[in-house]
Amino acid sequence: MQPLKVAILGSGKGSNCQSIIDAIKAGTLNARIVCVISDVENALILDRAKKNNIPAEYLSAAPFKTKLDGEAERNYLAVLRKYGAEIIVLAGFMRIIKKNLLQAFAGRILNIHPALLPAFPGVESWKQAMDYGAKVAGCTVHIVDEGTDTGPILVQKAVPILENDTAEILHARIQAEEHKAYPEALRFFSENRISMEGRRVKIKMD
Ligand code: GRF
Repeated sequence: MQPLKVAILGSGKGSNCQSIIDAIKAGTLNARIVCVISDVENALILDRAKKNNIPAEYLSAAPFKTKLDGEAERNYLAVLRKYGAEIIVLAGFMRIIKKNLLQAFAGRILNIHPALLPAFPGVESWKQAMDYGAKVAGCTVHIVDEGTDTGPILVQKAVPILENDTAEILHARIQAEEHKAYPEALRFFSENRISMEGRRVKIKMD
């Protein structure tokens, strides 16, 4: 099978991007990262891409602050097409994806959220889980739809919330699972094992 052509969008440190790079290098994921795009000019995620000889582009999403829309959305689409992306991975991309991009990559935009959805959508969800008194937290890889953190679920990984945890310790524990969950979800796509039944994602086993 041809390697899956992945585009990664991120605004920050890019540790999830790194986990995907590492899985490809290790031979456990049959994919190629065709480009990394960031809406933040000096984001670490761009340096990680460059270090690995992956095309890295800063693309402004102004004048919007929290969404990707209008001319910026068109620019992103053009770059994604230029690199022949088949699937888009949101890895800490701090913007809401709007209609045109969703339609252009229907069912092929993924996001990772640091909570066991549908619990604790939104920001700093590990803190939300801790403050709520939950005993279990985790992460979710899901397909992106028009809502925020509402799309069909692909992979979830759980971690315990321990009594002496600080928000930082819990977040780190969740992130360690994120770094397994994203390559795993992409593997299902690269091996053509995904089908949908309503909003339930079915994964064919070997
Ligand atoms: C992750 O914690 C992810 O759950 C959230 O944004 C963070 C991105 O981290 N959506 P990184 O840039 O991949 O290190």
